[in-house]
Amino acid sequence: MFRLGTLELATPLFLSPLAGYTNLPMRVTLRERGGLGLATTDLVNARSLLERKAKALELIATRPDDQPLAVQLFGAVPEEMRDAAVLLESRGVAAVDINMGCPVRKVCRVGGGSAMMTALEQTAGLVRGMVEAVRIPVTAKMRLGWDEENLTAPDLARALEAAGVAAVFVHGRTRAQGFSGHVNLAGIRAVVAAVRSIPVIGNGDVTTPQAARHMLEATGCTGVSIGRGAFYNPWIFAQTHHYLTTGELLPEPDFEERVRVMCRHLDLMVEVFGEAHGCRMFRKVAPWYARRFGPAAEFKRRVVRLERRVEFDEILAAYRAWRAPFLDAAGALLPRYQPLPMPTALGAGTGAGESIAVPRGPVERW
Ligand SMILES: Cc1cc2nc3c(=O)[nH]c(=O)nc-3n(C[C@H](O)[C@H](O)[C@H](O)COP(=O)(O)O)c2cc1C
Repeated sequence: MFRLGTLELATPLFLSPLAGYTNLPMRVTLRERGGLGLATTDLVNARSLLERKAKALELIATRPDDQPLAVQLFGAVPEEMRDAAVLLESRGVAAVDINMGCPVRKVCRVGGGSAMMTALEQTAGLVRGMVEAVRIPVTAKMRLGWDEENLTAPDLARALEAAGVAAVFVHGRTRAQGFSGHVNLAGIRAVVAAVRSIPVIGNGDVTTPQAARHMLEATGCTGVSIGRGAFYNPWIFAQTHHYLTTGELLPEPDFEERVRVMCRHLDLMVEVFGEAHGCRMFRKVAPWYARRFGPAAEFKRRVVRLERRVEFDEILAAYRAWRAPFLDAAGALLPRYQPLPMPTALGAGTGAGESIAVPRGPVERW
């Protein structure tokens, strides 16, 4: 059990928001594998939500098997953030998270995202207004600071605790770092040391159960949030929960299990977004599953043109036939065709075109 304000979560494991990826079909696919304590939506513009813009309403769309759900808001106008939180509470959302880490200029220029880390008092005031207006937990997701010279996360976390947040999520990089370099675990540890009693949830580069345990042990944080690692491996929450509670690593899912979950994911995409749009969106999802299939060139070549659900069954049948020569008599992949183990450093060797694109280059130009 993990206590997040008034909420009790089954595990201390969280899905990080990834704009464009953490949609309803993905969240349900992950939840069905088990081990996930709380999932969060993509970031949602508070003002757009108050104006009931279609895009914002689509981002907060949920259903009973997508619970408990937190919605992440971004914005810098206290009244808008407060009213958006009230609206979300009235719709049954379990928690509201505030984006204080987004490095994108469009968001920072208006005082949202990472810019909130540079104005501590103002940010604490905005948060207090939200906390006082709702009963559901309000949390904040931050980076370590604007840049190496301004590591404000410990001071900010302390100020936000006083303002009433139920927890803070910390991505162990600065805004200036973007997604480069490694996660700074000492930086997360400094946040843990700065707060009195709220949980700190560590985030960044966790792609294996062992990396999650290392995050907990090296920083003293009480929960772990996983973003890209969950897309590369939808079983990561179940595997990590099992590992943290028993010390044992679960066996990797076999090919048939991976295919079953991939088909389920596609069916959810079609259910939620309709056949044409769902199939198009699935073109970028299927290759993540295929990374663990062994040789899969034929599958990947065809799936990027997917238009209709029935086509997927044909692609899969043709792929099974194409894949047969790589198997032994018992149907197992011959050892020399086994995929490489999950990389622990994200970005390295993940295969261009199949990895989640992160912005690169100087952060000022994003
Ligand atoms: C494509 C992409 C989109 C992201 N969108 C958001 C977002 O909407 N809100 C947010 O707080 N963080 C966002 N992030 C940051 C992630 O939540 C997370 O902090 C970061 O990816 C590090 O965790 P990971 O290594 O487990 O992915 C995004 C990251 C990526 C790569």
